Amino acid sequence: MISYVSTRGGVLPQPFDEAVLQGFAQDGGLFVPETIPTLSMDQLAELSRMDYPDLAAAILSLFIDPSVIPETDLARLAADSFSSFDQGRVVELVPLNGDSDLRVMELFHGPTLSFKDIAMGFLIRTMDYLLQKRGDRVSIVLATTGDTGPAAAHAAANRLAIDCWPLYPKGMITREQELQMTTLSAGNIHPVAVENCPDGGDDLDLVVAALFADPQVKARLRLSSVNSINWCRVMVQAIHYFYGYFRACDTLGDPVVFSVPSGAFGNLFAGYLAKSMGLPVTGFVCANNVNNALSTALSTGVFEKRPLRRTVSSAIDIVVPYNFWRFLYFLGGSDPEKINDWMTRFQTDGRVRVAEQMNLAVQQGFSAVTVSDADTLATIRQAFTADRPYLLDPHGAVAVAAAREAASRYPAHTRMVCLATAHPAKFPDIITRALNTPDLPAPAVHPSLEQMRTRRRHVWICDREDLAPALIRAMEKHTP
Ligand SMILES: Cc1ncc(COP(=O)(O)O)c(C=O)c1O
Repeated sequence: MISYVSTRGGVLPQPFDEAVLQGFAQDGGLFVPETIPTLSMDQLAELSRMDYPDLAAAILSLFIDPSVIPETDLARLAADSFSSFDQGRVVELVPLNGDSDLRVMELFHGPTLSFKDIAMGFLIRTMDYLLQKRGDRVSIVLATTGDTGPAAAHAAANRLAIDCWPLYPKGMITREQELQMTTLSAGNIHPVAVENCPDGGDDLDLVVAALFADPQVKARLRLSSVNSINWCRVMVQAIHYFYGYFRACDTLGDPVVFSVPSGAFGNLFAGYLAKSMGLPVTGFVCANNVNNALSTALSTGVFEKRPLRRTVSSAIDIVVPYNFWRFLYFLGGSDPEKINDWMTRFQTDGRVRVAEQMNLAVQQGFSAVTVSDADTLATIRQAFTADRPYLLDPHGAVAVAAAREAASRYPAHTRMVCLATAHPAKFPDIITRALNTPDLPAPAVHPSLEQMRTRRRHVWICDREDLAPALIRAMEKHTP
């Protein structure tokens, strides 16, 4: 039986369905598998020949016991999750401006044009499947910096066992991201625009965490979470590293580095998971904007909370990257006492010293780069005005700028794979600013967004101070 434990060690080992449906572990820790499964080179060679849905089912079966989800159901859930992607393209690798060592890994071909669709589609279908089997239902509450909310809302629309409450900091996400949440005609989707959030998504994370920390509220409202604290998201995101590695290398074992625009560290932790499973990745570049708690921790050994700064890569404007605790858990020898101690000190002092673990990360090929807004905009402009133009979104641009800076730290001719986590059409204002033109170029327009502009919107508006009681009241009314 594959079991899940909490990084804080305060809950009994749980089966996959409990870890997924609970989201947060009850002791305030994050669920992780008791052991990480590993793959031999022969097994990797076999996986490298699979298409995306089959690869996904093969990897997921290592983490999900067949007594919880039988293999045929798992394969169906995986295939169904990726069926809504544009022409079946889940992940595509393209050389950037003809540079064969630099590839862009496009992860934005899902229904809401961001990489969040990849894991959210599977997670929500799986929750719905497990809940229907139990005759149960849940209310998903999630804070979003712009992409998680739309992906969750789309995946959850009209599912029988789920209500979905995406919360977003009003005025701090793009209009396109807002439209993706507010124009769905599904009675089980309830977007909430929250005013007065100086720390953006982090302010909302605090409200959500407080709701989940109250066992009575959590049980009465059947609360569940699909933020990247949910193990299932991390696990599904590991798949694109396998797929990307297999497509980027000529021979299994070739040096490949992934450059990952990082906010809450879920995507990058998923890369670390893939490497821990035996994928021969050379390393990872943690690509941050100036909200660079992760890069700072990797370069100084101090993990520290600093005030939020708004940037052009808004989806990674995050000050507390909570998946970092999972990373520290494994780097610290799976010792929950250490995590407890660090989390407690972080809560009181806003900082914690983890130099030993960061040295280990560097030995495993991690490096960190902070990218300024000026560099992000220049990277978009440069890539689009090159001989073979390519339009990056601001987050993909952060990854490319970081990869270029970090390339010299790795062996010559290492393939640098830059994760393009969103479609540029989601950030039209930044694109026009970067290209210094009032007109959007064709690659920055997407038909799905154009159709939303004229649809009826429905959204709740609430001040952050009133959010917790208002949400509770609204959920009580809406939850059957
Ligand atoms: C477009 C985009 N890129 C990158 C990220 C960062 O991913 P993570 O929070 O898993 O580090 C996010 C989400 O937060 C995102 O929406």
